[in-house]
Amino acid sequence: MPPSIDIVQHESQFDLNEQTSQQEINHVVKSLTRTHSINHASTALIGKAMTSHIAHINHDDCDAGDEDSFFVCDLGEVINSYNLWKELLPQITPHYAVKCNTNVEVIRLLAKLGTGFDCASKSEIDTILGLGISPSRIIYANPCKTNSFIRHANEKHVNFTTVDNCQELYKIQKHHEKCGILIRIATDDEDAQCRLSTKFGCTVSEAVNSLLPLAKELGLRVKGVAFHVGSGAKDFTSIFKAVRDSRVIFDKGIELGFEMDLLDIGGGFERETFRESSKVVNESLRQFFPAEFQSTHNLRIIAEPGRFMVSNAFTLGCHIIARRDVKQDGIEAMIYINDGVYGNMNCILFDHQHPKAYVLSHANKFYYHEEIENETVEGKHQFSIWGPTCDGLDCVSNSTELSKNVQVGDWLFFPNLGAYTSAASTGFNGLGSSAKTIYVNSAQ
Ligand SMILES: Cc1ncc(COP(=O)(O)O)c(C=O)c1O
Repeated sequence: MPPSIDIVQHESQFDLNEQTSQQEINHVVKSLTRTHSINHASTALIGKAMTSHIAHINHDDCDAGDEDSFFVCDLGEVINSYNLWKELLPQITPHYAVKCNTNVEVIRLLAKLGTGFDCASKSEIDTILGLGISPSRIIYANPCKTNSFIRHANEKHVNFTTVDNCQELYKIQKHHEKCGILIRIATDDEDAQCRLSTKFGCTVSEAVNSLLPLAKELGLRVKGVAFHVGSGAKDFTSIFKAVRDSRVIFDKGIELGFEMDLLDIGGGFERETFRESSKVVNESLRQFFPAEFQSTHNLRIIAEPGRFMVSNAFTLGCHIIARRDVKQDGIEAMIYINDGVYGNMNCILFDHQHPKAYVLSHANKFYYHEEIENETVEGKHQFSIWGPTCDGLDCVSNSTELSKNVQVGDWLFFPNLGAYTSAASTGFNGLGSSAKTIYVNSAQ
C-alpha cells in the first residue's frame, strides 16, 4: 500500500489513500490560491511592436501578403514563466514540450535558461540537437514510437523515453536496449482542456503486474514513472492521485531491483493557476516522495510543461479582409480575417481554446493599449468572425463584441496565442502556414 498523506499546511489534517473521498481532496485543492494580473511592461512593448508593424501597411496598394497575419512574441514572458517555475517548483527541472510551440527563438532561450526538452518525434529531436543542445537534456516522451525513430534516438544518444505497454518494451529491447524507461501511467484527466489519458498510460496494476516484470525479464532499464494530468488541467486532485500512484510503482520497481531515480510529472500547467497547481505538486511530493526517500534513491524530478511556458508570450495580429453585413441573431456583420482554424487558430478545433478578439486598429487609429488596459469596456458591435479559407468550418467566433464598428482594412489582435497554435498551422487553400514573428523582450 502507498503511504497515506496528511496535509499539515491546512487547518485540518486528513489522509489521502485509495479510499479518500473526492470531497476531501477537493477541499485541499480549493483552499489554495489563484492569481492573475496584467504585465504592463509586456503590453507596452507588444502594443508598440504591433502598431509599428501595421502602421506602414496600406491594404489599397501593398504587395500581396504584406498584410498577412503576424505574431508578436514577448520573450520576457517566457522568462517570467521560467522564473515563476523556479520560484514555486525549484526542485523540478522543466523539460519544455517542443510540440507546444516549435519557435526556435523560444527554444534557444529556454535552453539558455537551463530547461530540458520533451520531444515527441525524430524531427523534434533533430530540432533540439540541431541547436547544439546536448541529447542528455532530451526525453523522448512519446509512449508509442516508430521503430526507426527509436533507432534514431539510440544513434543520437537520447537515452530516456516513456513506455505504457508491453509491446513497446519489446521494441525498446530490440532497438535501444540501454534506454532509460519511465512507465507512463494514466491519470484522472476528465476535466482537462485536452485529455491525454484516453490515449496513453497504463494502470497501476498493469505497471506492477505486467510491465515491470516483463522489463525485468527482458533486461531493460526502468528508471521511474511519468504521467500527464491532461493539457490545461483544471482538477489538480489528479496530480495528487498520480503522484500517489507513481510511488506504488516506484516501490515495486525498487523491489524488483530497478534503479528507480526519475519521476516525470508531465505537463498540464497554466500560468494563471500555477500557484494552486504547484502547491498540490509540492504537497503530494512531500507526502509520497519525502526528502528521505529522495536522498536514498538519488531521485531526480522533471516535468514537461508546454502551455505554461509560451501561452502568454504570443499575440496574433490579423487583418480584416472582408465584411458582409447580415443583421441576424444580433450580429451586425460577418467579418473575415486572414487567419483562422486552418492557420494559427487551429487551437479552436484541436485545443478547445476560445481566442479573444480585440480591436488593434480602426479607421487608421490604434487601440491596442486602450483595449488591453481596459478589458471592461462595453463592446457595442456584435460580429461573427471567419477565417480566410473557403471552408464553412473556418469560424473563429460565432459571436464577438468589439468596441468599434470594424471595416475591411482594420486590424484585430488576439492575445495569449502561444500554445498549440503555430505548431499545427496548415497551408490549406494555398494560404501560408507560417506567420512572421516580431520579437520583443519585456524582461530586459
Ligand atoms: C507527453 C506530453 N508531455 C507534455 C505535454 C505538454 O502539455 P502542456 O502543454 O499541457 O503542458 C504534452 C501535450 O500534449 C504531452 O503529450
